[in-house]
Amino acid sequence: HQNAATIFIIFGGAGDLSWRKLFPALYSLYRSNWLPENFAIVAADRKSMNLEEYREHIRNGVETFAPQYDSSLWSCFSEKIESYLIADLSEAAFYESLKHTLEQIGTKWETKPNWIFYLAISPSLIKTVVSQIGIAQLFLAPADSRIVVEKPYGHDLKSANELDQCLGRVFKESQIFRIDHYLGKETVQNILALRFANAWWEPIWDSRYIDHVQITVAEEVGVELRGEYYEHAGALRDMVQNHMLQLLCLIAMEPPVSFDSDEIRNKKVDVLHAVRKIIPDEVHQIAVRGQYGRGWIKGKEVVAYREEPGVKSDSSTETFAAIKLFIDNWRWQNVPFYLRTGKRLAKRVTQIVVTLKPIPHQAFPARALDQWLPNRMILNIQPEESISLVFHAKIPGPVIRLSPVNLQFKYQEAFKKGSPEAYETLLRDVIIGDGTLFMRADQAQAAWSIVDPILEFWENTPPIDFPNYPAGSWGPESAQVLIAKDGKSWYEGG
Ligand code: BG6
Repeated sequence: HQNAATIFIIFGGAGDLSWRKLFPALYSLYRSNWLPENFAIVAADRKSMNLEEYREHIRNGVETFAPQYDSSLWSCFSEKIESYLIADLSEAAFYESLKHTLEQIGTKWETKPNWIFYLAISPSLIKTVVSQIGIAQLFLAPADSRIVVEKPYGHDLKSANELDQCLGRVFKESQIFRIDHYLGKETVQNILALRFANAWWEPIWDSRYIDHVQITVAEEVGVELRGEYYEHAGALRDMVQNHMLQLLCLIAMEPPVSFDSDEIRNKKVDVLHAVRKIIPDEVHQIAVRGQYGRGWIKGKEVVAYREEPGVKSDSSTETFAAIKLFIDNWRWQNVPFYLRTGKRLAKRVTQIVVTLKPIPHQAFPARALDQWLPNRMILNIQPEESISLVFHAKIPGPVIRLSPVNLQFKYQEAFKKGSPEAYETLLRDVIIGDGTLFMRADQAQAAWSIVDPILEFWENTPPIDFPNYPAGSWGPESAQVLIAKDGKSWYEGG
């Protein structure tokens, strides 16, 4: 697959995702020699511009967002942008002209290239585009064409199933690449290496030794200019159903037998299937929500969510969610997993904290223990990329006193190079047809089944206290209560 001639077709080629993420990633792949020799990009969008204007628009994005922009490389790369088609994506005529363009490129190369359809479009257009691709018979043998679908993948279990059916009428499951960009992050992929390439952790990686796990994805940013989208999403749909449950899977999955893509995904989906079903009566005990009010971020005053563009002034959409889950299998019996995420929180951090149970017997005198903390493994996914182990050491001196110390591995120091952007890794995998880091239909469905009861309960019981946390804080008081009632607290260290 490595060097197969490929045409990369972007629906929504003039949109923000293409500008900010897709093209900078394609450019970086080109710079690192990761693109096949015969590689062409065909972009389609509503906006009216000619190819030169389009290339210039994209150049601007690449210059802004690609880590190493080099103007001399740009001109070669820009020639890969073969065509910009002004398109009404609901019109059959467009798909005919697209087909013609694709066939022409194949004729020029004297080969049958792979076709990759990338849907960088609003979710409301997905079904239209997929059906039109079907009607125009814009497909090749399953091994030679792929379709990439962005999140949000559905709005709930029912709509995700409908999407699956729609895609399934035109594409086989092996051709469908559902993106979850968290899975492309180096530090997320490294969870697999940490767990399954080492003998250190596996013997203690279960309910005998692990007290609980916390997964935090905290953002400083608000909803920015995405108010309209976010009003229909909220934190649970935007972050928990996808990114956070994927992190949970990587932490909790059983060891895979091989790195075969279905083997990894089977082991991950097993975790989702084992998550204890949430019943409506329990939702208030295991899930809390919040919405930011005005506050301060890095010394700057910021507006409340309800004052953001595109947001209703009495919006009930949650910008913060925290939930407690249990995984009902042999390994994780009664180990709570606490997940929290929110916008406009005190600092940007994505972190997984694994806390061990206390030692069985404390032999040290009480006066030695005034700084006692549980043993922890802290996986910092971003912005810092590191893994820390917190354990106890003796403070030098004539009396016995213990102090928690930190053994830390930093990616940047160890490998002396930065990590590629998630989209780089994922686009490369799409090009070579490796689906390991993409969501299979059953994974997306299982993840919706977990959050659906919470969403339904929340929809039926509108919040009465929104906004309930100031921007720049760690979220609503109820999130502290959620974990404090189990005798634990959120880890807010470095
Ligand atoms: C996206 C969400 O999937 O992830 C955004 O839609 C969120 O709301 C973003 O800001 C966070 O991604 P990252 O890579 O910045 O952690």
